[in-house]
Amino acid sequence: MIPSIVRSLLFIPGNRPNMLDKALGVAPDVYVPDLEDSVPDNEKDNARKVVTEHLEKLHRSQRMVVPRINALETDLAEEDLIALMGLHIHGISIGKIRSVEDIRVVDDLVTQLEIAKGLRSGAIKLFPWIETALSIVHCYDILTASARIVGAGFGAEDLTHDMDIERSDDPLQLAYARSAFCFAARAAGVLALDTPYFHFKDPAGLEQDALNAKRLGFKGKFAIHPSQIETINVCFAPSADEIDYAKRVVAAYKEAERNGRGSTSLDGKVIDVPVVKRARALLALAETMSS
Ligand code: COA
Ligand code: MG
Repeated sequence: MIPSIVRSLLFIPGNRPNMLDKALGVAPDVYVPDLEDSVPDNEKDNARKVVTEHLEKLHRSQRMVVPRINALETDLAEEDLIALMGLHIHGISIGKIRSVEDIRVVDDLVTQLEIAKGLRSGAIKLFPWIETALSIVHCYDILTASARIVGAGFGAEDLTHDMDIERSDDPLQLAYARSAFCFAARAAGVLALDTPYFHFKDPAGLEQDALNAKRLGFKGKFAIHPSQIETINVCFAPSADEIDYAKRVVAAYKEAERNGRGSTSLDGKVIDVPVVKRARALLALAETMSS
């Protein structure tokens, strides 16, 4: 089963057995052993073998395991899938998805392999990456093209490459794309997962970046280094102040209802139905995360 809480997803370069072992000592919500862009071309076969050998150990941690395979345009994707598909993974992440047709190709391959390997139908979930201009434009159609899709990655590095622009730290640079992605993901019922923050020695910058992402509608974020996991987990969980305020909102609204009113005020702000709905949703999320 895929939990609705996917805050942190740790990339681990697939050709680095020491890093795959090291990852077992940290606690992201999801392990993402990577066969794609953290692995050089001359190491692709080795990475596939090393990751396959580590899947059982990663799975035993009780955390989700979602390896990232090479993109369809590389001709490595099918071989990656054949090697990785099995009981020890929750899903497959795949980069550089270009179209609805790409999703259908991956879905068909996964379906055939589920049958061949005796897995339950629909057991393997998909986490595609939206990281080209075209896939941003067709995002909703892509994310609804397979019932296997439960989360999607927003890839800022590949997207800026595809847009032929330099990547900058200015949050306005990708504002449209990030927002369009979050709206499409939400409408599709899929978790929006944010691009990694590359300055891995800058926890304050990561915190800002993650909180900005959360405000836009992202539900989690990829990490490239173990030191980023804790910050990401904290940022994507409701804070103590948010929980406290939500409890006060619910209490104020109940009091208003008792007095026959559909709206009231708290700390100088209006409390009405959508406000109380958001407060209840936040408290439910906090409850799920603490259980
Ligand atoms: N997963 C597991 N372990 C990791 C790790 C990761 N992503 N990144 C670093 N580590 C380990 C290191 O091996 C090192 O272990 P050691 O103490 O046993 O030697 C420890 O954590 C500390 O690492 P540090 O020395 O701070 O960093 P580094 O210079 O070894 O590695 C990077 C820095 C950026 C090269 C490395 O974090 C990395 O390759 N990250 C993944 C990049 C990636 O996935 N890119 C594709 C995403 S689009
Ligand atoms: Mg990418």
